[in-house]
Amino acid sequence: MTAIRPYTSPVDPSPIIAPSILAADFAHLATAVHDIEGAADWVHVDVMDNHFVPNLTIGLPVVQSLRKATVIPFDVHLMITDPERWAPGYAEAGAYNVTFHAEACENPVALAGTLRAAGAKAGLAIDRDTPVEPYLELLPYVDTVLIMTIKAGFGGQKFMPEMLEKVRDVRRRIRAKNLEVRLEVDGGIAADTIEQAAEAGADAFVAGTAVYGADDPAEACRKLRALAERATVHA
Ligand code: DX5
Ligand code: ZN
Repeated sequence: MTAIRPYTSPVDPSPIIAPSILAADFAHLATAVHDIEGAADWVHVDVMDNHFVPNLTIGLPVVQSLRKATVIPFDVHLMITDPERWAPGYAEAGAYNVTFHAEACENPVALAGTLRAAGAKAGLAIDRDTPVEPYLELLPYVDTVLIMTIKAGFGGQKFMPEMLEKVRDVRRRIRAKNLEVRLEVDGGIAADTIEQAAEAGADAFVAGTAVYGADDPAEACRKLRALAERATVHA
């Protein structure tokens, strides 16, 4: 089993591979997580509340139980309204990174501070229809930025290459300010799309269908990692 790299600095551009259990068998989540141990860096957990997005998935009790089943860091993606109320619970449950949506949050800097105080990294997600420019000023206050490369809400959608302009904008700002921020892409990431996302500047990659739709999820992770490493621009 390879070492798990929970966080790396900007001088280490090694890609993070974060399989999304949204595409796994919900009756066997512990097995799904064990299947990627040693091959993935983070487990991406999609929390949807049937308000912020139409879909409804899993919540805090499942995260609390699953947290005890693995050592892989959890990357919790909250697609929920009122993240101020709910996000800290995920940090307290031991999530490594807790990402909330810019569209759902009145004061992202304050919430990021709360999450950090609770012991987690703080992530800011930008959905398909939201421009990134107004949020570039907030980068010094967060640890991860998640650019949706689909409309948030469902797995298995088609990757939208036009979203990569946002990735380029964020990467430019991270470089210009020498920030220690991970830049994550989420939605339709697979063997045929991960390289363009890496070239645009992403260094963390969520993949649901491409990992759990594969016969061998660990092998799918290794393949995605190799492609991302090859395409990473070492600037
Ligand atoms: C969708 C979720 C994604 C989803 C990605 O709103 O945020 O994390 O699981 O699934 P794929 O990789 O199948 O597009
Ligand atoms: Zn997600």
